[in-house]
Amino acid sequence: MKELDGKQIESLIDKAIEIKKNQQKYWSALDHKSLAMVFQKTSTRTRVSFEVGMTQLGGHALYLDWRTTQFTMSDIKDESKCLSRFVDIIMARLLKHADLQKMADASEVPVINGLCEKYHPCQSLGDLMTIKEHKGKLKGLKVVYLGIGNNVSNTLSLGCVRTGVNFTLCAPEIDPLCIDNDLLAELRKSGLYKEEKDPKKAVEGADVVYTDTWVNMEFFTDPKFEKEKERRIKTCMPYQLNRKLVEVTNTLIMHDMPIHRGYEIDDWAIYAPNSIIFDQAENRLHIQKAIMLWLLGKIKL
Ligand code: CP
Repeated sequence: MKELDGKQIESLIDKAIEIKKNQQKYWSALDHKSLAMVFQKTSTRTRVSFEVGMTQLGGHALYLDWRTTQFTMSDIKDESKCLSRFVDIIMARLLKHADLQKMADASEVPVINGLCEKYHPCQSLGDLMTIKEHKGKLKGLKVVYLGIGNNVSNTLSLGCVRTGVNFTLCAPEIDPLCIDNDLLAELRKSGLYKEEKDPKKAVEGADVVYTDTWVNMEFFTDPKFEKEKERRIKTCMPYQLNRKLVEVTNTLIMHDMPIHRGYEIDDWAIYAPNSIIFDQAENRLHIQKAIMLWLLGKIKL
């Protein structure tokens, strides 16, 4: 997302909305193209949306579990360059952004970040698409992110300020793994970024309230992280997205999933009338198609 300006981001979103409405038109758009999907971490939505998306565009997707490939024993540069000789495009969910950068540098075909410790760009593009579908516009809206500052809030905040959306981070802290000082500088310079520690104040006048896990997926069931997990739950509980906070408002409720019910969000909010969580999940499919079509030169921004 750092490579796209606000106009390009919004153009990509508009293409995804058009693709969603005219799915048959694109059934052969990526005929005989192949997508390699490399996963170092677990996934439901990212894997399924990219694989189904590629199939629906007439191409083919390969799922590569990092642990069953030679990436485990060889240099990422060599394996990535080789992989790029077989396929037309790569999507990778890696633990470290630095490794993703090495993969992108070595690859002869486009590499998509399917989430790393710092960013989740495809998620945020799909989120902005969902907001635009529901609100009819982006510019001038107010999005509030509740919980811990992380890879999702990083890319969502960037996408928001670049498209003219006011973004409020309502978080007790930022996950140290996710800190990006250059990004923070751009956000602060935009005049559209705010930090507010009080959830009640933060959600006043919000068009969208968004939350995500307080603990990164690779640490959630790690016994070594148990103490830190308990500390975060205690610290973040006042930031839970719940009925008390948003019931009497028209504010849209978003969560990128997987959900940790009773932690960052309560049961009511997941299925509330103003929840758009499942539209948001579905839109991963449509935005992935737009991303692949753009990177393979089939659509222009
Ligand atoms: N939101 C998201 O990326 O979901 P997965 O981790 O299931 O891919």
